[in-house]
Parts: sequence; structure tokens; C-alpha cells
Amino acid sequence: MKPLIFVTKRIPQPALDRLAEVFELRLNPQDKALSKQQLCEAVGNADALLCLLTDSIDRDVLSAGTRLKCVSNYAVGFNNIDVEFATQRGIAVCNTPGVLTESTADLTWALIMSSARRIVESDNYLRAGSFTGWEPMLMLGHDVFAKTLGIVGMGRIGQAVARRAAGFSMRVLYHDPAADAASLPAEWQAATLEQLCRESDFISLHAPLTPQTHHLIGKEQFAWMKPSAILINTARGPIVDETALIDALQTGKIAACGLDVFENEPEVPAALRDLPNAVLLPHIGSASLETRTKMGLLAAENAIAVVLGKQPPARVN
Ligand code: GLV
Ligand code: GLV
Repeated sequence: MKPLIFVTKRIPQPALDRLAEVFELRLNPQDKALSKQQLCEAVGNADALLCLLTDSIDRDVLSAGTRLKCVSNYAVGFNNIDVEFATQRGIAVCNTPGVLTESTADLTWALIMSSARRIVESDNYLRAGSFTGWEPMLMLGHDVFAKTLGIVGMGRIGQAVARRAAGFSMRVLYHDPAADAASLPAEWQAATLEQLCRESDFISLHAPLTPQTHHLIGKEQFAWMKPSAILINTARGPIVDETALIDALQTGKIAACGLDVFENEPEVPAALRDLPNAVLLPHIGSASLETRTKMGLLAAENAIAVVLGKQPPARVN
């Protein structure tokens, strides 16, 4: 008998095909997120679970999975899973690092460019029929070239964002207590969070969400930033105190922001949606067809390796 895997939402077909070679595949039949009770029922007789970052895999879900050997997260971030409890129960937790690094760095740059040069606002202006001719003072934004980019969290994605900055002759500062400076290019300069906030024109977040990074950027950090600073977040929403961010944007403490993630997704406060200097995206950092397929295949290989008693390519516990 094949082991059973439950997949909480349809993912690219090549990944489902690969899973079906080893597993009996059970897919969430509905095109919406499962309730906690549905999740508990679904893992009840499963050997593996392939889940999304929007599924909260807490103690109750893990306890309900009496045969569960693997939780394979279709994401690099795994703050949605109680990893400590999974470890206690001998359940492998896996993620999808590496394959989404460049796509997420690309999207970070899309947000840097569009928030600096008011791309979304300009597009809306034109579509509204307001464009009546070239004007000296129309949609003045901020340059990116030769500015200072401050990166908080210098892991794979932070480094991929920093590499792209060379093409814009930017100075790169980074803050990451875990970074090994000797392994990074010498022209990237380590900084305290305060120095980074004070000196950067663009501040881009690439840290995982942990108790230590929750609200890492709040009132005090916005007060350190330049009035021309632009905050970019493609990591996790709760790293930023969203109420403090809205205040900073409304009162001109900073100039603009570009966000792919929010504190209480999918909820986005009306106050944020009302701000023309906020570019807001629906968590699409890794959303290219190629990358989502690679993530699916890696998530599949992780689950397959665990049930076959092999070392999975990306286990986090
Ligand atoms: C997306 O946010 C991920 O963690 O993969
Ligand atoms: C995630 O992949 C990171 O290390 O930035």
C-alpha cells in the first residue's frame, strides 16, 4: 500500500505527478483554505502533509496526525508551523529554500523601482484620464541610482537583492546578527539596525519571522529613518508594526513603502490602501510559473525522501 499524502491546495501539476509516483495523493477538493477542523481531519490518516504558508500547522493539527512523518511546507518561511512541537513528535519539517531566491529578489526590485518612481500611481493617473501633457513637476519621485540600500536579513534573498544593487551603483548596508561578514563581498557594509535606518534611502526586509524579528521595524525605527526613506517588505508582514508604518507614511516620517506581505494577511488596513505612496501586492514574491513549479518539485522530493527513510533535500528540524 502506498503511503498517503494530503495536499492542502492545488500546486503545479508536475509536483502532483511526482508525488503520485510514491504516494496515494489526496488533494483539498475545495478551492479555499481549510478550517482547522478540516485540517485535523485531513492529517488524521496521512503519512505526509504538503501545506502552504497560510495553513497554521499548530499543536492540534500535528497531534491529529497520528501517522504523520513529514510536514512539507510549500514556502521557504516556516513560521506557520510549530517546529518545536513537530520535532518532539519526530515529525520532519521541510521547506523550499534556494529555488525562490531570485524570483523574490526580482520582485523586491520591482517594488523598489515602483515605489521610488511612483509607477502604480502614475498608471492609475493615466487610466483616470488625467494625463493632459508633459509637465515639469508631474509625478516627481526619487532616484534609485547611487543611493544607499539597507538590507535587514542577509540570507540568500538579501544577498540576491544586494547583488542586483551593483547595477545601480548603490552603496549596500546590511544588518544581520547571523551573517558571516567574511563570506560576503567586502563592499557590503555591516551596520547596526539604527545606523542602517539612519543612512539608507531604501530599507528592504529579508529576515525570517521569529519572536526576535516580530515588530523589528516600529515607531523607534521609523523615527531613525530619513523623511525620504522607502521601506520594502517582501519577507513577512509582522516584522513591521503596521500601525506605526501607517503613521510614518501619513505624517511624512518616511516617503513611501512597497509591501508584498502584511501583518494580518489577507487583511490590508483601509488606511494603507488609501495611501498613494504605498505599493501593495498580494504576496507574490515567488509567483513565477518556473519558480512555483520548482517549489512544488522540491516540496515533493522532501516528502518523498522522508517517507522512504532518506535525508530530505531541505529539512529544517
Ligand atoms: C513565501 O513567502 C515563502 O516563504 O516562500
Ligand atoms: C531565504 O531563502 C533566505 O535565506 O533569505
